[in-house]
Amino acid sequence: MIILAIDTSTDETSVAILNGQKILCNVISSQVRYHKKFGGVVPFLAQRLHKERIDSVISEALSRAQTDFSGIDAIAVTYGPGLAPALQVGVEKAKLLAVEHGLPLYAVNHMMGHISSCFSKNVAKFPMLAVLVSGGHSELVYTRSFGEYQIIGQTLDDSLGEAYDKVARMLGLGYPGGKLVAKLALEGDSAAYALPVPMLRSGDLNLSYSGLKNAVRLLIGEVSAEGPLSRKNIADICACFEYVAQESLLRKVTLALSMYPEVQQVALAGGVSANVRLRAHLRAILKKHDLELVVPANQKLCTDNAAMIGLAAHFGILAGQKPAEIETLDRIPYLSLEDVHFSE
Ligand code: KG4
Ligand code: ZN
Repeated sequence: MIILAIDTSTDETSVAILNGQKILCNVISSQVRYHKKFGGVVPFLAQRLHKERIDSVISEALSRAQTDFSGIDAIAVTYGPGLAPALQVGVEKAKLLAVEHGLPLYAVNHMMGHISSCFSKNVAKFPMLAVLVSGGHSELVYTRSFGEYQIIGQTLDDSLGEAYDKVARMLGLGYPGGKLVAKLALEGDSAAYALPVPMLRSGDLNLSYSGLKNAVRLLIGEVSAEGPLSRKNIADICACFEYVAQESLLRKVTLALSMYPEVQQVALAGGVSANVRLRAHLRAILKKHDLELVVPANQKLCTDNAAMIGLAAHFGILAGQKPAEIETLDRIPYLSLEDVHFSE
């Protein structure tokens, strides 16, 4: 089945075409330079830019896949979670295309898309523990199949990606800063300053990053009281933040594996899954449990993209997902993975 997939959940206008699991193209038009000066995504600006770009991104995808709508069998679109004005553009466009070309329309949960991003090449083994770390979410998800998700832990405040972005902002590194903080952290000494590991004694699988963010703010204040921050100071702060932020997540993954010993595979997805240190540390932990770590096959599949939405539709259809009712389909900004149900 050839699927044309659309994602406009935040600030990337993305369209991909897949033949089953095979990604024929994954076009991403990023709006990041427009939102940069505001230090975050501005929902109505995102909507305007999605509207301006969506048709040309669709044309580009069709041309890269060397096809037209006569070669497409189904449309898939993200209907949540995400920013309401942004999601709306993709959902409306997908509905129009489905009606105009007489195609079935599959409504996809963006977070199921992130999990599916690990399986363009890998084979899924269930039950699986999905570690979802993006700009909007930090969740540990017990996954029984593509279609049966239970959130067993989640952040009580900021997501991990958001914490990276906020630390970058405090250090004046720019937006989105996750990648920049990670790069500087590689040069720094993670033992240079002591920061508290969040949620160490909570006994559950939840996470929290707002306290750590405040601890970093105080640390920056203390270090800069002694003089302007040097590159070494900044790299050390990034390294300490990254170490503690990841340590907190890794301890919860270890706890989850002891609570759910039947887990067969761990999937790491979402924008922060691009982080090389996080991958390495997680792999080292999983080795002790004789478990494999699966990650997206390339960098483009880690952050928001439509190929992962096409993959989710592909796995959803195999799991019994039915096409959406075009008249009633609407965006759901606070959609949860636990809302995914394919069988009656
Ligand atoms: O999944 P994503 O593209 O968007 C959401 O659905 O939220 O994730 C974006 C997040 C941003 O917060 C960005 O700073 C973070 O992923 N990020 C990283 C890295 N690359 C992207 N964080 C840490 N290390 C990275 N290498
Ligand atoms: Zn995302």
